[in-house]
Amino acid sequence: MKNRIFLYLAFGALLVVFISCTTKKNEISASEKIISEKIDSLLQLMNLEEKIGQLAQVNPEYNNTEILLEMIRKGKIGSVINAGDADFRKRLQQVAVKESRLGIPLIFGRDVIHGYRTVFPIPLAQSCSWNPELVKKAAQIAAFEASSDGIHWTFSPMLDIARDPRWGRIAESNGEDPYLGSQMAIAMVNGYQGDKLNNPHALAACAKHYVGYGAAEGGRDYNTTLIPEPELRNIYLPPFKAAVEAKVATVMSAFNDLNGIPATANEFTLRQILRTEWAFDGFVVSDWTSISELINHGYAADERDAALKAIQAGIDMEMVSTCYQDHLKELIQNGVINENLVNEAVRNILRIKFRKGLFDNPYTEKPDSNVFLMPAHLETAKELAIQSTVLLKNDNNILPLSENINKVALIGPLADAPLDQLGMWTPDGRPEEAVTPLTAIRQLIGNQRVIYAAGLEKSRSTDKSRFNNAIMAARQADACIMFIGEEQILSGEAHSRAFLNLPGAQEELVSAIAQTGKPLIIIIMAGRPLIFDKIENKAKAILYAWHGGTMAGPAIADLLFGKAIPSGKLSVSFPRTEGQIPVYYNHRNTGRPPSKENLGIPTGTPLDPVNYSSNYLDLDFTPAYPFGYGLSYTSFEYSPISLSKDTMSKNDTLIVKVTIRNTGKYAGTEVVQLYIRDLVGSITRPVKELKAFRRIALEPGQSKEIVFTLTQSDFAFYGKNMTYSAEPGQFMIWSGNSSDDKDLSGAIFYLTE
Ligand code: NOJ
Repeated sequence: MKNRIFLYLAFGALLVVFISCTTKKNEISASEKIISEKIDSLLQLMNLEEKIGQLAQVNPEYNNTEILLEMIRKGKIGSVINAGDADFRKRLQQVAVKESRLGIPLIFGRDVIHGYRTVFPIPLAQSCSWNPELVKKAAQIAAFEASSDGIHWTFSPMLDIARDPRWGRIAESNGEDPYLGSQMAIAMVNGYQGDKLNNPHALAACAKHYVGYGAAEGGRDYNTTLIPEPELRNIYLPPFKAAVEAKVATVMSAFNDLNGIPATANEFTLRQILRTEWAFDGFVVSDWTSISELINHGYAADERDAALKAIQAGIDMEMVSTCYQDHLKELIQNGVINENLVNEAVRNILRIKFRKGLFDNPYTEKPDSNVFLMPAHLETAKELAIQSTVLLKNDNNILPLSENINKVALIGPLADAPLDQLGMWTPDGRPEEAVTPLTAIRQLIGNQRVIYAAGLEKSRSTDKSRFNNAIMAARQADACIMFIGEEQILSGEAHSRAFLNLPGAQEELVSAIAQTGKPLIIIIMAGRPLIFDKIENKAKAILYAWHGGTMAGPAIADLLFGKAIPSGKLSVSFPRTEGQIPVYYNHRNTGRPPSKENLGIPTGTPLDPVNYSSNYLDLDFTPAYPFGYGLSYTSFEYSPISLSKDTMSKNDTLIVKVTIRNTGKYAGTEVVQLYIRDLVGSITRPVKELKAFRRIALEPGQSKEIVFTLTQSDFAFYGKNMTYSAEPGQFMIWSGNSSDDKDLSGAIFYLTE
């Protein structure tokens, strides 16, 4: 009887789940059906100029306002980028809705890259939190603040895989790994867009820069990229695919030339992969003037040709340049292209405008100032800055410092540099709203215990006239905390560097302070991995805090004095020197892999007289700090991993277990990482690939068992002939707290058909 009741209950529950799933599905398709009908009827009413108008995105800074209003009135503009403030946006929208013939609303786009008025850490830092939930929350807050100000659409997340720290835009990326990058992509898209795009506090997201932009040769921005298809599919595309699966509303085409065809005119990536293989049904916007730049690439003869190639490739909206506005009509009238190409682009754009609810709800009133920087926003910004910071070194557990320390000297050009700590791409962040480390540490331990001397005016400064003040400050203190790194303008778009050392006279400043003999703690604030080997040994501890945003100061203060425990892990490998770049953990093995035993100039052995291996003569081949690395104030011990079976057939699952114990004296959070290696493939495979991770909080002495479940999709890749499958054979599986062999424990297993 009992069993029967249980069966009924289980059946009933299943039925409810089934009905609610199908109802939900039907509801979704019903609303989509209505949208598609609305698009059909609207399209019928539109003349060709109005259709082409929907494809235009303009920047008001380049246009006289009266001319702009007139263009909107005539239905010649579909979107506005960087449209002043909420009042101005409302004014433009009123003209579009009330004065244009068909009343189609504008969509307002803006670069809300890592926050709006509340600025979160740069995306590269955020990815070091390995905390997608928190990253999602930050994106939600950014969406709330920006949408309150009348913005509908953010040009974020940036999903370019970045293996080259010379590239200034590495700051905007989630680092070097496709799996971590995909998790961050999903988190950000879900955070911005929420459950329903038509929620007034959601932003339409934009997966950019599609695709390959991060592989710019020499790390020089906008430079050519050459990416073989397997590498494109296995490394560069996954975060975009994840964003499309998370229903990202828009995609931005990249500036770069990809294998000879610029990304903005690339039918293979835009039509074949994005539309046909992934069934993306949002719209594609070009990057800023990237359509007219097809001429510079040598891919289009003139703007007419550029318009032709971009529309054929599948770019729906043109950002800022006017090739579409100036040439599409003639191209259609002369029969060079079919009007259906334009209709298709208009449909894609209108679909997002309808989904975003702009027809029902086109206006946003000027917000109260209290919607920005709310206490909960600042709290999240601080927490994310804490979790993004990576402890690289902590000799003799010098950190955390005691709050009872008598006097600390805060030295360095970034201790009190509010603009710099906000980082690149913060058009709406205000330096006066940022809390610097100097302010936060004074608040935490009391003004009288803090002596401050910048030492250098800026990170780039070479004038040493302030060194003496800094040295005097150091002499009076029990410990020196130095804030060095890179100022804001040294990273970001078009801000690549050939040398990655600490700029200006910062190394000399560190040496001068170190000579005082006072214990030295270094905080590095930067937009990229820097090379700081010359001063590394002078510091007892190094915290890599990146550009941490509005609340960088309080986050750093809490970390220094033990109110928070570091848990960040690098999302990108740190090179020892520029000559190693690119250095990344998921490289291939080569036929003559390097080894630590063979460093230096090979003198050989009797068996191998020359040591022909893939080493440098003059430097270790490994990175300064590996992907996944980051210390805590406490310590964690890993058990060997255990596998549920050593042979698994493709339709089976593999359970991997590992137990982690907090062996130190602080409660802390560990990021448990799982890597695999496919030992033999139809194409050569990386020596390691991240496949899962988990953040776990452990009290001192506490242990937890982590269970990872792997299925064949975790072993699948695009192999020979571009087939996507898990290939049977031998695999290594490891777990640990960095990608470095010495931090991992592994086991072998076999995958069978
Ligand atoms: C150019 C940048 O590449 C892109 O990321 C940004 O969204 C647009 N400009 C708009 O500002």
